[in-house]
Amino acid sequence: MRAAMAAEGITLRMSSAYRSFARQQTIYSGFVAREGVAGADTHSARPGNSEHQTGLAVDLDDGTGCNLARCFADTAGGRWLAANSWKYGFILRYGDGWQPIVGYTYEPWHFRYVGVDVATDMHERGVRTLEEYFGLPAAPDYG
Ligand code: DAL
Ligand code: ZN
Repeated sequence: MRAAMAAEGITLRMSSAYRSFARQQTIYSGFVAREGVAGADTHSARPGNSEHQTGLAVDLDDGTGCNLARCFADTAGGRWLAANSWKYGFILRYGDGWQPIVGYTYEPWHFRYVGVDVATDMHERGVRTLEEYFGLPAAPDYG
């Protein structure tokens, strides 16, 4: 995927990938200290619940100044990834307006590896979330 992006003049960087329980605890606790539990829970997984702890999630950036920010969606990298990451087995996990289903607010940088077969099937069926793909109940309040 990095090579395909580079061929179009886009740099692919990883801001965050695997995180340990302790690392997620530090991140989540930092948000709780600043925003309280209710605020933190809208965008940060409680320790033990982050996809980053599985090693299957990555936060991606293109080095143009919108790292881990909503404006990443409007960068060349963010647009490319939203349109093409499925070809490489990655899905956008927390899309704009999907919070009632996926539990977290929009993260245009957070991609989950599900493999090319599943990502392609989701793309072809027009299914955007793992909850819907696996027939799971919506999870608007993932901790
Ligand atoms: N920001 C995502 C939801 C996480 O903490 O895993
Ligand atoms: Zn993430």
